[in-house]
Amino acid sequence: MTITFRKLHPTFVAEASAVDLRQVHDAETLEAIRRGMDEFAVLVFRDQPFTDEEQMAFARRFDGVLHEKTGAAALGRSRLGTEAIADISNVAPDGELFAPDDRRRAYALGNRLWHTDASFEDPSGRYSMLSARVVPPVRTETEFADARTAYEALDDATRTSIETLRVHHSIAYSRETLGFEFSAEERAKLPGAVQPLVRTNPRTGRRALYLASHAAHVVDWPLPEGRLLLRELIDHVTEPSFVYAHVWRPNDLVIWDNLATMHRGRPFDDATHRREMRRVTTLDLPHAIETA
Ligand code: OGA
Ligand code: MN
Repeated sequence: MTITFRKLHPTFVAEASAVDLRQVHDAETLEAIRRGMDEFAVLVFRDQPFTDEEQMAFARRFDGVLHEKTGAAALGRSRLGTEAIADISNVAPDGELFAPDDRRRAYALGNRLWHTDASFEDPSGRYSMLSARVVPPVRTETEFADARTAYEALDDATRTSIETLRVHHSIAYSRETLGFEFSAEERAKLPGAVQPLVRTNPRTGRRALYLASHAAHVVDWPLPEGRLLLRELIDHVTEPSFVYAHVWRPNDLVIWDNLATMHRGRPFDDATHRREMRRVTTLDLPHAIETA
């Protein structure tokens, strides 16, 4: 099957030609999608009416192993019966919209900070796949930022000075910046992970800045200098010229490479409108899949 990609932004993001991903099983087409991910870092697939099972099965065919130790799992909030699929919705287990002061809503609001999925795990998250099941009648957007082009736009001296730095990523840190409080028990399940600040796509050799809201401190530097550097770099990656806003339609599937991008959900009237999305994220296991 031939898939073609139409670019939606000058440096990244493309929309794939018509394809039913539920039917994609052959190595050649899966590899064509991986090459599309290498080139564009974010791919939009329209008209993908996935069930949860079909979405998880596609993600496993595409990249092997799924991330299951989500922050939400530590809170015990899933209504889906598996931790491998994240419920990115404003809907409580009883089917009602979250009340404005619901703890689970406060937790979900963390997605409105620029972030990378599962950077607080080791191995970290690689590809996220977000499926739009119920989309409100008002415009809802997710923004993506191109951390590869942003890395390449740094001057040589900056690139050299940050090359070997390591960063501690923690979801407890990022959620607490918005006032969310974890219990000691929840926190113990989420110790965080140390990641390189600059990561390289093993298939292309292209580098990208790897940080965002979960980036709590630079391991090799004093706390204030490290946090100032992290803020400066996040501001840099999220400059408007590196950002693309995806406007959701029902049955969209968007795949992004967490090692090459940052993303954030944008506000909408979530007390009025139901929005139900499902996300799976694969783990960055270098040999999970033999590449062609
Ligand atoms: C996610 C996420 C943002 C949104 O699913 O990982 O950050 O717009 N979503 O729902
Ligand atoms: Mn996310």
